[in-house]
Amino acid sequence: MRIRSFAALFAAAIMLLAYPAASAQSTKLAATPPMGWNSWNHFGTKVTDADVRAAADAMVASGMRDAGYVYINIDDSWEGKRDAQGNIHANNKFPDMKALSAYVHSKGLKLGIYSSPGPKTCGGYEGSYGHEQQDANTYASWGVDFLKYDLCSYMDVVKLHDPNHDQRKTQAMMEAAFAKMHQALVNTHRPIVYSLCQYGVDYVWKWGPKVGGNLWRTTDDIRDNFRSMALIGFSQAGLEQYAGPGHWNDPDMLEIGNGGMNADQYRTQMSLWSILAAPLLAGNDLSKMDATTKSILLNKEVIAVDQDKLGIQGHRVGPPQIWEKPLSGGAKAVALFNYVTDDEAEPFTLYLKDVGITGPVHARDLWAHKDLGVLHGSYTVTIPQGGVVMLKLWK
Ligand code: GLA
Repeated sequence: MRIRSFAALFAAAIMLLAYPAASAQSTKLAATPPMGWNSWNHFGTKVTDADVRAAADAMVASGMRDAGYVYINIDDSWEGKRDAQGNIHANNKFPDMKALSAYVHSKGLKLGIYSSPGPKTCGGYEGSYGHEQQDANTYASWGVDFLKYDLCSYMDVVKLHDPNHDQRKTQAMMEAAFAKMHQALVNTHRPIVYSLCQYGVDYVWKWGPKVGGNLWRTTDDIRDNFRSMALIGFSQAGLEQYAGPGHWNDPDMLEIGNGGMNADQYRTQMSLWSILAAPLLAGNDLSKMDATTKSILLNKEVIAVDQDKLGIQGHRVGPPQIWEKPLSGGAKAVALFNYVTDDEAEPFTLYLKDVGITGPVHARDLWAHKDLGVLHGSYTVTIPQGGVVMLKLWK
């Protein structure tokens, strides 16, 4: 017994020695799921300096910054060429990264950037392969606060070194590539949130924290349609044990306001992502939001579920899609989804015992912004097609 506990103590000490700064820093950097905006879903490779400044302006004017959305993240297509010393420069869409960064910071926001461990990014731009520390230093000198690091052409590097497709070698090389950039970021001494993007392959949620990830994509790219969003969102069931303060599952960015779904469906994305304690990275044109889009992205009661300080990712309770998330103070959020889009909306009854509640409980509808009084045993409500009813329940 004594030997076993000594061995456990020894193992814990080794772990602490190996990852002391990384884990404490990780937790501090992303204590709750990161919130902000990313250029990709709306602007793709056309994004410019002016678009990013407009996003920053709109983040403030719309009230989103004050609701917690602070990262302004430039995705792929900012990259230009390397100079003779190997330093990366932005292309002519981004004439002065330092000035852009200063502008974003002057608004009380933070700046994010994108690269790949491969020689090329997914869009065919310059990646960080062989220049990891140099690039990390450049980002830090620009005042970057967030890096999305996207696998892309790194798989070609792996194939060169592993022509026989030895799965263990592939995995080890991928982990090493992400760990390398993490170390490079740590070496800059600038706090930079580290977002892994490799589409969820090889159970990234199991090793993401080890390589310094604050968040990691769990799936392939989202599209602005209900099928894509629902498939990605609902497939997160079972991953809840891997998320927590400092390290989050990332089911990709929000499509709210991009036009491919209706308001009920976008409310489903906002609710499901919040139940999942997922990063909330808006992916629309913030400078052209209608009132409905704003009301969804700015629902502070739903945001509070996502950002709850316990940092527990919610889980599916059972079919039809009932999900719950424990909140601080003993409360819980419960979301009821009607994911069948071609059915009539019919009354649905939630039996409180199914979400572990016995006896009377206070309830509030987080989309209607309405107290429902005290519930006893069950609650019957009509959920719109493709939509959601989201409740907060407390004793
Ligand atoms: C991949 C990522 C996307 C986006 C593009 C950019 O597809 O998954 O989120 O970053 O690359 O090229």
